[in-house]
Amino acid sequence: MKTKLIASLTVVLALGATAALAATAGENWENHCAKCHGADGKAQTKLGTKLKLKDYSNAAALAKFTDADLTKATADGVKENGKEKMKGYSDKLSADEIAALVKHIRGFAAPAK
Ligand code: HEC
Repeated sequence: MKTKLIASLTVVLALGATAALAATAGENWENHCAKCHGADGKAQTKLGTKLKLKDYSNAAALAKFTDADLTKATADGVKENGKEKMKGYSDKLSADEIAALVKHIRGFAAPAK
């Protein structure tokens, strides 16, 4: 009886830990990026409008950026004339998570199926 309870508790804890370690790109986007860039990547948020962010649902907006550029911007942040426009996320997100976010960003402009 007791062992069974402990066993199921262990499973619950293990699942919780895995989820905390590897959030999906969608979750990371929602938690870290959506308040500026918008849940749909269109940046139609208070901050997005104020900061004049690009509409990621428009493929042309990101056409001049390579995936490496997007990865670097997410990991190291964006600076203009030495002034930080966006902070980097390399301390919060793993390289895998950042790579998944870059795919997520490109996905906003994917033609509707
Ligand atoms: C506090 C608001 C804010 C948050 C939160 C934020 N960004 Fe940004 N982001 C910006 C600003 C400002 C720029 C610079 C835009 C420019 O130079 O035109 C930018 C630029 C970028 C760029 C470079 C391409 C571009 O649009 O110029 C990428 C890629 C990017 N952000 C991804 C992310 C990701 C991924 C997250 C979440 C992990 C995130 N951002 C969170 C404000 C934010």
